[in-house]
Amino acid sequence: MRFSLATLLALPLLAAATQQESPLEQAKAQAQYYFDKISSYIPNPSKPHTVDINAATAKVGGNALNILTLESWEETIRSSVKPASSKPEEWWVLITGGNKTCFGRCETVEKAYNETAILFAANPTAPHLGYLDCEAQPVLCSAWGTGPPTLWIMNVAAKPAPVDVRILTLNSTTTNVKTFTDLHATQSWKETTPYEGWFHPFDGQLAQYGLAVPIGYFFWIFAVVPSWMFMIGISFVSRNIMSKRTLGPQAGRPAGGAPAPAARVRVGAPPGDGIGY
Ligand SMILES: *[C@@H]1O[C@H](CO)[C@@H](O)[C@H](O)[C@H]1NC(C)=O
Ligand SMILES: *[C@@H]1O[C@H](CO)[C@@H](O)[C@H](O)[C@H]1NC(C)=O
Ligand SMILES: *[C@@H]1O[C@H](CO)[C@@H](O)[C@H](O)[C@H]1NC(C)=O
Repeated sequence: MRFSLATLLALPLLAAATQQESPLEQAKAQAQYYFDKISSYIPNPSKPHTVDINAATAKVGGNALNILTLESWEETIRSSVKPASSKPEEWWVLITGGNKTCFGRCETVEKAYNETAILFAANPTAPHLGYLDCEAQPVLCSAWGTGPPTLWIMNVAAKPAPVDVRILTLNSTTTNVKTFTDLHATQSWKETTPYEGWFHPFDGQLAQYGLAVPIGYFFWIFAVVPSWMFMIGISFVSRNIMSKRTLGPQAGRPAGGAPAPAARVRVGAPPGDGIGY
């Protein structure tokens, strides 16, 4: 943190050092600098899971848990559907997380789910089981508008049949293996109302217009980029514009003056309203 703050404070010096270049070159270099800087703060949203998969499937006997990722979740689920049969495939997806996304309260639920997976592996009527960790897949969780600990039950038939989705909130203290086996035995999830909102992963408006993933990124970036960074960005941009103005009206205005109000509004508004998200 201290290092990055120092780097940001050093930016005006950097700008001064590159004063001799043309304004366009300078702007480009600055944009590149910011972009690199900002991207270096953003952790790769989907990292740990690719390594886990073999261990996970081995642990539960080669069947069972399908770890869902932003890139492959739809393919994973769709590939279970046999085109010839009209019977939908039942999928359960546990939405879980760690200390950041579930405040460390998901372990009980997760353990019960993992043990249920072992039981279900021997049961031909059992649903397919998916596992979505919001810590490792924050963008996918945002794109679905969901958070842990939740169980999504989906009945997926071949396209273009709509996908029936039910969302059950799990009790993080009392959920155990029996919760899941009872849920399967009694099919009591059928009593819940099907989810038909905007974030429906298959049929929702966002998915249909291809907006679910961009929105997932959008919410996720505002969650991870600290607001002090926006503030420093704004003050740096406005200071830069002020100094350009004093340098000379002809050179300064067209390059720096025009985009300023827009940039200030766009960058400035979200952190201010951030509580609302
Ligand atoms: C449940 O299984 C997943 C996938 O193998 C694993 O990443 C996770 O650590 C397990 N959770 C618990 C509490 O055992
Ligand atoms: C989560 O928090 C607990 C208690 O604060 C800590 O013991 C544990 O190591 C943390 N786990 C991770 C993955 O950071
Ligand atoms: C979970 O279950 C316990 C015991 O039944 C209950 O006291 C608690 O309020 C429940 N928590 C939630 C979030 O529903």
